[in-house]
Amino acid sequence: MRIVDCGLNMTKIRNPKSEIRNPNRSPSLEEAQRYLVGGVNSPVRSFRQIGAEPLMLVRAQGAEAHDAAGGTWLDFIMGWGSLILGHRHPAVTRALRQALPSGTLMGLTHPAEVELARLITEAVPSVEQVRFTVSGTEACMTAIRLARAQTGRTTILTVDGCYHGHSDSLMARKSAGIPEALAQDTMTVPWSDLEALEGVMRRLGDALACVVIEPVAANMGVVTPAPGYLARLRELTRRHGVLLIFDEVVTGFRLGLGSAQGRYGVTPDLTIFGKIIGGGLPIGVVGGPRRLMQRLAPEGEVFHGGTFAGHPLSMIAGISTLKELSAHPPYERLERVTERLVGGLSEAASRFGVSIQINWAGSMLTVFFAETPVRNFAEVQASHRQRFAQWAHALRLQGILIPPSPFEALFLSSAHTPAHVDRFISAACEAFRAMSSRNHR
Ligand SMILES: Cc1ncc(COP(=O)(O)O)c(C=O)c1O
Repeated sequence: MRIVDCGLNMTKIRNPKSEIRNPNRSPSLEEAQRYLVGGVNSPVRSFRQIGAEPLMLVRAQGAEAHDAAGGTWLDFIMGWGSLILGHRHPAVTRALRQALPSGTLMGLTHPAEVELARLITEAVPSVEQVRFTVSGTEACMTAIRLARAQTGRTTILTVDGCYHGHSDSLMARKSAGIPEALAQDTMTVPWSDLEALEGVMRRLGDALACVVIEPVAANMGVVTPAPGYLARLRELTRRHGVLLIFDEVVTGFRLGLGSAQGRYGVTPDLTIFGKIIGGGLPIGVVGGPRRLMQRLAPEGEVFHGGTFAGHPLSMIAGISTLKELSAHPPYERLERVTERLVGGLSEAASRFGVSIQINWAGSMLTVFFAETPVRNFAEVQASHRQRFAQWAHALRLQGILIPPSPFEALFLSSAHTPAHVDRFISAACEAFRAMSSRNHR
């Protein structure tokens, strides 16, 4: 299928001229920087990794978002993967609108908590019971506490390049302010490296409480596991009595209703979800078999609690999202549209002699500027960040919004059409063209 038509579609691209309408000294940006650290509430939103200024969005619908100056953006950030149905899906918006007059927070259990829990357990067989949190960070933190209590062991094993939120244990050696004593209890192995894994498990398997992993990495950009890696990880963790925790905050309900564990046929002990299950509102959840989950208070002695845990509005947005995904599964179509994008970008890059590697799974992808395949964190780090920044800038000038970091995933939603994808490909053609002439100058 030939889908690249460089040049032909260029006139159709709406250029929001954001760099002009949203210049460095834009009052709103200055004000943001006066009151918010770095003008943002999460570092990646600062656009510093590509040397650009933050962008403020005020409205969104479907696959498009709008800035305060009236610029329209074709969105491939999609709430960092939360919005698989697109912005303001009518079912989600309707459910929230109907719920609001009843109040925002009951402070006690709301029926919607039970309903969303049921929908998750029905879709994911390894999950019999859940505990909702407000964020993925909290859910990961709680899962680790549960694993430590269950095994009576302290050390946890993580995998290089994965991200599990910003709790101390999981940010060991990645942030200042984390006590060394705590960091010592977090070990790391390289992504998808069976030999390294076997070695660590042989030496330390009996001392590990859990292995925490994104079954498909999305936080070093998309990197899929080597064939057989997850199955072997399952075998080794079981053999050594180590709990296997799948962090499916990104992959959950994105790689299918059964999530990554369904797609790869590997069953973890505990699973963490977030993002999609909240339909665009704050959420996290830890789930697993009843026998493990019963260790949480009030049934057991592992504490987790929260004023906003199981927030009714997050539950209601999540219920309408999961019901929509199950009534009209978008996965096959999403994968076809994503494949069209991947094919078009590859063809465009090769036409202009720019070396890229596209990693993708389901409806998420990352474009790495590299000459050879990118299969682990070391190879991710070796990719050309400067070229990524040039590309992201050129796309930004044409109204295409991608995550402003070479280490993030782009997300499609059911609101993205082949026409949207073609718009992206045409803009990418321009970007590659500019890069190749700059490199040849
Ligand atoms: C795989 C993964 N785990 C955990 C988290 C943390 O979730 P939250 O940002 O809701 O705290 C994220 C956030 O992006 C994530 O991608």
